[in-house]
Amino acid sequence: MTKRILIQLDCDPQPSTFDAVVAVDAGAEVLLRHGGVTTEQAVSLVHGAIFTRGVDALSNTAIFLGGGDVAAVEALAATVRRTFFGPMRVGVLVDPSGANTTAAAAVIAAGRHLPVAPGGKPPTTALVLGATGPVGQRVARLLASRGASVHVASRSLPRAEEAAAQVRAVVPDARCEPVEWSGGVQAAAAVARLVERADLVVAAGRAGVTMLDGPGRALATSAKVFIDLNAVPPAGIDGILPTDKARRDGSAVVYGALAVGGLKMRIHRAAIARIFERADVFLDAEELLALGESLV
Ligand SMILES: NC(=O)c1ccc[n+]([C@@H]2O[C@H](COP(=O)([O-])OP(=O)(O)OC[C@H]3O[C@@H](n4cnc5c(N)ncnc54)[C@H](OP(=O)(O)O)[C@@H]3O)[C@@H](O)[C@H]2O)c1
Repeated sequence: MTKRILIQLDCDPQPSTFDAVVAVDAGAEVLLRHGGVTTEQAVSLVHGAIFTRGVDALSNTAIFLGGGDVAAVEALAATVRRTFFGPMRVGVLVDPSGANTTAAAAVIAAGRHLPVAPGGKPPTTALVLGATGPVGQRVARLLASRGASVHVASRSLPRAEEAAAQVRAVVPDARCEPVEWSGGVQAAAAVARLVERADLVVAAGRAGVTMLDGPGRALATSAKVFIDLNAVPPAGIDGILPTDKARRDGSAVVYGALAVGGLKMRIHRAAIARIFERADVFLDAEELLALGESLV
């Protein structure tokens, strides 16, 4: 019996234990874990994956690309794609810092209440706080790819501009604008119009940081959905509990990190199963969103 082997290529020095545990729980029988992987090393690691088993057995080998540096993981993903040729390929899942699976789950949650689909009318107006981090970047990209008008917020305008440029690089027709956001009511007042107009507010700031406080949240009078991805107290958005799942709170519905995390885990496990189904499967953010949508 050919065993299902998952080759974990992580750009961090220590490959993620979280990703390893999920892989085993999702059906990987053997894990080969590599940390500190560079694009140069990736070529020979991929050759090891594609040249050892016959073409018919390659669906029993798969690659997981992870790590905290999104740009480094994207470079690894590009190298892996380039190294494959013809039928010499294996299934691949790309999920730096869990950002792709988490963002997919958040966008699916938003889409239950707002038109988050290409051509959705009227287009959703979204404000992503902490949009320069791995998760926020992907939330912004997926929302933009689904036709939303997205404001990406950072404490630094140049970083917000960079995040917006990255979205536009992948989604050329993206409506994505940078905004400087320091958090708290003072900053909220400075960008009050943006907050007031947002249908959707997603907090993707660092764990344990309040991105939208009470007075700031009170300004968000148009918001129909708030999603807080932070599970570590205090709340990322005032008044949202990690367990909130489509809880009606005033005129909006709210989602907390654990509710989004439950769907994220389903997507992650389904993705591991999917990359062992066919050798030509390559799951990045957009494919994971589609996979998640097929689950719910
Ligand atoms: N629910 C789930 O399943 C799940 C899964 C993964 C992650 N998460 C959560 O998702 C959130 C985002 O994760 P991540 O890895 O992308 O986060 P991150 O990289 O640690 O932080 C995201 C952004 O937060 C901003 N930030 C950092 N410190 C701040 C402060 N003191 N005040 C205001 N902003 C600050 C930074 O943006 P600027 O410096 O540009 O302002 C940073 O780029 C975290 O809360 C994480 O725990 C949830």
